[in-house]
Amino acid sequence: MIIVTMEKCHVPQIAAMEKRFFSAPWDENSISSELSNPLSYWLVAVDEDTVVGYVGSQTVLGESDMMNLAVHPYHQRQGIGERLVLALIEGLKEKGSRCLTLEVRASNVPAKKLYEKLGFQMVGKRKNYYQRPREDADILRKEWEN
Ligand SMILES: CC(C)(COP(=O)(O)OP(=O)(O)OC[C@H]1O[C@@H](n2cnc3c(N)ncnc32)[C@H](O)[C@@H]1OP(=O)(O)O)[C@@H](O)C(=O)NCCC(=O)NCCS
Repeated sequence: MIIVTMEKCHVPQIAAMEKRFFSAPWDENSISSELSNPLSYWLVAVDEDTVVGYVGSQTVLGESDMMNLAVHPYHQRQGIGERLVLALIEGLKEKGSRCLTLEVRASNVPAKKLYEKLGFQMVGKRKNYYQRPREDADILRKEWEN
């Protein structure tokens, strides 16, 4: 398994995973448009030609937001999610970003444990941020020295 920058060939598999995991999935067009967005930075974990995980972010004025993170169920609990987030942070540091913020469903224990392990701290909540099912978001942030 290696981690690479997202390319066009990865988009259909990412869109399929979005549908599987999220109630408001990104479709192929929106993911593709990230390839030409200078604010965007996406990484993909690939095993030969198969996408096993991905993470997506956008950065404005040195502050980054993580929009998507998923690891295929067959490949979960093997450290891939952790490697993706750490590689994202390294890449963002090199681009001059100072922090990474994300929203996570309040009930999403696996993701919250991962972010806690990586030193993210809770900085707020967004009431009823998610639909289907309706749920609050926890807002987490990690800052670093450049
Ligand atoms: C959240 C997710 C990306 C984690 O990916 P992963 O590759 O399985 O995670 P890792 O193997 O790298 O685990 C790293 C740490 O996360 C935590 N963790 C991951 N899965 C966990 C689980 N099911 N239960 C408890 N803790 C968990 C642990 O602290 C783990 O460290 P440890 O192995 O030393 O205990 C994965 O569960 C997933 O794709 N979930 C569905 C999509 C999703 O919810 N995305 C996040 C949206 S904000």
